[in-house]
Amino acid sequence: MLKNDLLIKALKGEEVARPPVWMMRQAGRYLPEFMQLRDQYDFFTRCQTPELAAEITLQPIKRFPLDAAIIFSDILVIPQALGMNFTMPEGIGPFLADPIRTLQDVENLIDPDVEEALGYVYDAMDITKKELDNSIPLIGFAGSPWTILCYAVEGRGSKSFDKAKAFCFQNPKAAHLLLEKITKTTIEYLTKKVDHGANVIQIFDSWGGMLSPADYDEFSWPYIEQIVNEISKLVPVTVFAKGCWFALEKMADSKASALGVDWTIKPQIARDLTGFKKTLQGNFDPSRLLSPPEVIQSMVKEMIDDFGTYKYIANLGHGILPNIPVENAQAFIEAVVNYKRA
Ligand code: CP3
Repeated sequence: MLKNDLLIKALKGEEVARPPVWMMRQAGRYLPEFMQLRDQYDFFTRCQTPELAAEITLQPIKRFPLDAAIIFSDILVIPQALGMNFTMPEGIGPFLADPIRTLQDVENLIDPDVEEALGYVYDAMDITKKELDNSIPLIGFAGSPWTILCYAVEGRGSKSFDKAKAFCFQNPKAAHLLLEKITKTTIEYLTKKVDHGANVIQIFDSWGGMLSPADYDEFSWPYIEQIVNEISKLVPVTVFAKGCWFALEKMADSKASALGVDWTIKPQIARDLTGFKKTLQGNFDPSRLLSPPEVIQSMVKEMIDDFGTYKYIANLGHGILPNIPVENAQAFIEAVVNYKRA
């Protein structure tokens, strides 16, 4: 049904002539057309206005030969639905004035009807699917419960998320209740995203790498696995857990179809840890898009040679940075599209 199903083929482990390519945060601040809309509407207005979210989703698709679209939204729409009033002040990023600090705070959260609370996301997906007209797959996403807990407890971004970690270590009962609540709503949310046309789901565990391997097994992985177990019955699921190479071996035995890796791991080591049981996605250093286009092209070729074309999705190792020249993003994508095996 999809005209370009390279991404789905790679997720299923089917042979492809060249790997599919998309970029995390491809709908973002490096695009002048995104900046124009950004000057007119604040961040969550863009997320909550289906026509705007659909338009932003399609901006990179109109410019580049990408093999997937990812719906423009944010991982923070889940804590918002649970009753946390996140905003995105200029120069601060995600911000919550009254963060979660006690068991009572967790008990006070709402158990939302996702269709009611997050209907705007589904409306944006309906418009996007119509516009895409089955040309390429649409990726839906959510944050991991641990990564959402980080923002819910810290109340903003952090270099160490030490308040979030302290909450887990000093008040594990409250932490696990919060993680359970996020997990339940995330499963409902993602199930409906599939109903509204998501062909693939990606879980972003952006702050998993803040935890030790043992704490990861207590506070992050079990909740991701619950989500993966449910959603993988519907569509292929990718888990991107930044800084979590220590967990790759275990993740390779999960029901995920693909595992995202960041640029701090060598492709061969990621393959050794996962034994071709999973498709791997990544792992170009986003800052390397600041190199001249010719350098980007040769580095991309090397990256594909190292991962191989089988069970591989070309991507960055984290989201694209706002200061990347558009021509350099284009060089990255075209280098994958024009890849030829030696
Ligand atoms: O990939 C895409 O193109 C889809 C859009 C997308 C956004 N956020 C849009 C966005 C996705 C997949 C996300 C996920 C997200 N949001 C994550 C996980 C991925 C990652 O990068 O680690 C996280 C941790 C968040 C929380 C969040 N939202 C942060 C840390 C920020 C940046 C704040 C800042 O000032 O830099 C945001 C805002 C945000 N979400 C932007 C975009 C394009 C930029 C802010 C803006 O446009 O005003």
